[in-house]
Amino acid sequence: MHYRQLGRTGWKISDISFGAWAIGGAWGSVSDDESLAALRKAIDCGVNFIDTADVYGDGRSERLIARLKKSEKKEIVVATKAGRRLPRQTVEGYSRQNLTMWVEDSLRNLSTDCLDLLQLHCPPTALYDRPEVFGILDDLVQAGKIGYYGVSVEKIDEALKAIEYPNVQTVQIIFNCFRQRPAEKFFARAKEKQVGILARVPLASGLLTGKFRRDSTFAKDDHRNFNRHGEAFDMGETFSGVDYNVGLDAVEEMRALVPAGVSMSQFALRWILIFDAVTCAIPGGKRPEQVVDNCAASDLPPLSDTAMAGVKRIYDEKIRVAVQNRW
Ligand SMILES: NC(=O)c1ccc[n+]([C@@H]2O[C@H](COP(=O)([O-])OP(=O)(O)OC[C@H]3O[C@@H](n4cnc5c(N)ncnc54)[C@H](OP(=O)(O)O)[C@@H]3O)[C@@H](O)[C@H]2O)c1
Repeated sequence: MHYRQLGRTGWKISDISFGAWAIGGAWGSVSDDESLAALRKAIDCGVNFIDTADVYGDGRSERLIARLKKSEKKEIVVATKAGRRLPRQTVEGYSRQNLTMWVEDSLRNLSTDCLDLLQLHCPPTALYDRPEVFGILDDLVQAGKIGYYGVSVEKIDEALKAIEYPNVQTVQIIFNCFRQRPAEKFFARAKEKQVGILARVPLASGLLTGKFRRDSTFAKDDHRNFNRHGEAFDMGETFSGVDYNVGLDAVEEMRALVPAGVSMSQFALRWILIFDAVTCAIPGGKRPEQVVDNCAASDLPPLSDTAMAGVKRIYDEKIRVAVQNRW
């Protein structure tokens, strides 16, 4: 496992880290025992950074991480998020009272007295024109309730605005073989500002693992069933906003680029790590085997120029039109 500096925080975190949404909920049924086994395996593989949110399984994901931390001696940095408890996303909802209440809930769930990193959870675009919200976050840092804060965004314009606030330490954004625009429009500025970048949905909700087929089915309570067209939340969070069949065709073409002995998931994750502005990818993992597969991407040699050019060509020909100007 390799480690990279997380912005200006002083933390060095694993370039393959762990995304803890699926172990909370919205991905079909998961067992806590298996989720804990996946988390433990991640730590064994060298992962030292976990991304979660208060709403993942209504605190279930955070509570599992608290259980993990109790039984682990190694230092683990936990990033959580706040804002999605609002029944409707409004800027006014990000009030001092609400933010304080959400932070207190996460502190309880995570069994800690200070959150390592708190991220605003895809708030409305207009929030980035409200410095007072970032002032509230500064106050929470001052009060010792949070160590650092950052944002999770849908759009590049939001990311660019967020990093103008001097104490925003991290930006979490969708970046993968099917979402290449952040490299074109955001990474250079983030590097200038020394802001950490967490690449989320790195496997396009599993599409980029290469395991799905046209007739694959998903449980009723799996967002890959119920949110394909953005019925419950931003459609970009499901398969990166790429039409399922278009994504499958692109993955088929990509297979030819994957070196022998490397899994498709590892290839997709190694592609992300080629970009040095990225601090880490945070693949979701429900089972220990998936975690082992994903973590091995960190130690692979860089992808060849031919492979990089191939991924770019497939994106340009098959994917770009659907996603490039939307997010
Ligand atoms: N708004 C936000 O801030 C936001 C939104 C989305 C995600 N996130 C964060 O980003 C993290 C990662 O994104 P994500 O979980 O949505 O998507 P992802 O990492 O692209 O896909 C994860 C899913 O792919 C499957 N998988 C993972 N590794 C695999 C492997 N090696 N082989 C086969 N299948 C594998 C698993 O599901 P199955 O086994 O069921 O196929 C897993 O749950 C989340 O966990 C969360 O922490 C944040």
